[in-house]
Amino acid sequence: MNENESEQTAGILRSQGAQPCSHAEDSDIIIINTCAVREKPVEKLFSLLGRLQHIKKKNNACIGVTGCVAQLFKNEISQRNQSVDFVVGPDNLWKIPEIISSLSQSSSCIIHTPRNRQWREIEPIARKNHISGYVSVMKGCNHFCTYCVVPFAKGREKYRPLPYIKAEIKDLAEKGFKEIHLLGQNVNSYQDPESGKDFVSLLKEISPIKGIEWIRFITSHPKNFTSDIIKTMAETEKICHQLHLPIQSGSDAILRYMGRGYTRQQYLEKIGLLKENMPDISLSTDIIVGFPKETEKDFSETLSVLKQVQYTNIFSFRYSKRPHTAALKYTEEVPFEIKKQRLIQLQELQRRIQLKANQSLIGTQMKVLCMGKSTKNQNSYFGRNEGFQVVNFESASDVTGKFVTLEITDCGPYSLIGRT
Ligand code: 5AD
Ligand code: SF4
Repeated sequence: MNENESEQTAGILRSQGAQPCSHAEDSDIIIINTCAVREKPVEKLFSLLGRLQHIKKKNNACIGVTGCVAQLFKNEISQRNQSVDFVVGPDNLWKIPEIISSLSQSSSCIIHTPRNRQWREIEPIARKNHISGYVSVMKGCNHFCTYCVVPFAKGREKYRPLPYIKAEIKDLAEKGFKEIHLLGQNVNSYQDPESGKDFVSLLKEISPIKGIEWIRFITSHPKNFTSDIIKTMAETEKICHQLHLPIQSGSDAILRYMGRGYTRQQYLEKIGLLKENMPDISLSTDIIVGFPKETEKDFSETLSVLKQVQYTNIFSFRYSKRPHTAALKYTEEVPFEIKKQRLIQLQELQRRIQLKANQSLIGTQMKVLCMGKSTKNQNSYFGRNEGFQVVNFESASDVTGKFVTLEITDCGPYSLIGRT
């Protein structure tokens, strides 16, 4: 999502005549787009701002901070860093050119973080990738999981009107894009603001668009993930048999403290239905370890979910306290060392699961969308299969942006190797 918003920011600046440059040292405008979901990226921002001070001194570059850290820590950013000229929240990217123009009249940091209650279109988007495109369908979140800062940073859910979504996908198709990812914090709760059409209708209306061959969407909340969506995925040729469905924990007690709104059993029933309808489905998930009150037994239940589901990939994190969140009230913290150990144990288990699953693919043929040349050598390329796994391969001709059929010859836990 942040990548998409960075590309929107770049698009806005380009439309005003700005040009990208390869080194921060040479630039007149530096914008740092930020993520606040976990503690680490927030710390990174402050250390980066410290490092940028010499550029500010050297060429008086204008420095801005955008995104969720900007929304949540606006005062801290402007007070701690004299070099920051503006702080703009995720709802206000369109305002950046106006703010930059007004900077000469202002010696103090400009803070602009009002909330948008409705969807606001941003064009054009300066995309880096011309094969696979993110298409935003909604923003914000109404769920308030107890650990999560997103609803406070991004605000409540706002849905993009369906005609804009269709127009953007048609435009991408005309430009030669082969794949789209529908993007939103909770894509399943999508509702067209005009017609009230839901996520299933959205999928059905976009799938006939010619030129786009693979459709994916991220992120789904297990609570709103219905059997209707599963049926539509199974019946619609272009929708990839791939799904990211964050479970966060395998323990019912922890899921309850997290306020996730489903039990382990309910989650696993949805996984069962997905596998029944699409036996080849590739699944991934998000997991938090060391949430307050998490016991060894709770953690072992998370490990057992991994063994049962056999995810293609997981994204796992140590719990970190976030401002405004309800989980701050839980005083029974898991010590850092234990969180660290649990994360290692979880990732090691998943590494073994992935390696075994990948090894079983050796000798099979699969369709891969080539995303470009890899840096390895002249004829090396990389792409993704329908399950969203990275596949590296050699090709005598440039197949960037094309679908190729590869035979898998080797693998590691995190990627596959194929040949044409
Ligand atoms: N601590 C650790 N991980 C978190 N996530 C969200 N909030 C926190 C937090 N406070 C993780 C969740 C979410 C992903 C985007 O980030 O797993 O799905
Ligand atoms: Fe955060 Fe929960 Fe909303 Fe996801 S569903 S963005 S984890 S509050």
